[in-house]
Amino acid sequence: MSIPYFANTEDLNISPEMMAAYDRDGVLVIENAIGKDECHRLMRRMSMLVDDFDDRGQRSVFSAVSNEQQDDRYFLESGGDIRFFFEKDAFDSSGNLQGDKHEALNKVGHALHDLDPVFDAFSRQGKFKRLVKALGMVDPKLLQSMYIFKQARIGGEVLCHQDSPFLWTEPQSCIGLWFALENATLENGCLWGIPGLHKEASPRGRLARVGPNRTEFKVLNDQAWPEEKRQPLEVKAGTLIVLHGQFPHLSGPNNSNRSRHAYALHLIDGRCTYPRENWLQRRDDFPLRGF
Ligand code: FE2
Repeated sequence: MSIPYFANTEDLNISPEMMAAYDRDGVLVIENAIGKDECHRLMRRMSMLVDDFDDRGQRSVFSAVSNEQQDDRYFLESGGDIRFFFEKDAFDSSGNLQGDKHEALNKVGHALHDLDPVFDAFSRQGKFKRLVKALGMVDPKLLQSMYIFKQARIGGEVLCHQDSPFLWTEPQSCIGLWFALENATLENGCLWGIPGLHKEASPRGRLARVGPNRTEFKVLNDQAWPEEKRQPLEVKAGTLIVLHGQFPHLSGPNNSNRSRHAYALHLIDGRCTYPRENWLQRRDDFPLRGF
């Protein structure tokens, strides 16, 4: 059965059919969840943040072709900051940036929703609060935000993974809100997902800090993902894809001439325990906030 697409009912009200689809599949696709004007506002704002980013200093690459995460401080301390990560193919063999920095970044994260007024206002809309509450979250906290560029030609692939291993809570509570700011197609590296596997008893792995600047991905279930069951989620700009933390998803490389910008916001339930071993930690004077 293919993953259904729902038209936005006013203000993201969740119908019984949508609840049933999310429960069955671990994913919920809602078209026109945000307006084109909102997409453009976030894109313009990010362009300004990149304008102000000095690319002659820190040059950290982000790649998601394995479960391992970078063990550099620039990455590991990005949970409470706005930091910029490049595509690995943005550099030539001598390590020089090729072309414009606006077309070289993989992502920007991970506290846009707290530190930038435009992303803060977008992320804390009442309709998103109602949505995650309808899906069972009692005390939603905005944990992580990412602006994902999936650049034309060099946008790297993201291997099949769940989000809960990286944003672990006890019990599990992570929900991802993934907003397409541009059309996402087979050509430019749309999301794909495997419905139904979110019902497994536990995430299949867990990333944990094992030292001050070191993390390790522990495999909890080494079965291969049934990738033959994966389904593409081609969506128009303005579509929201709600991801259960244990929904396996991936995206291919972008070999096309069109970028595929997206904004992803991850929430956890404040009632759950957030372990000190998680990679993403916030300073004590900068606690997580709700809506
Ligand atoms: Fe993900």
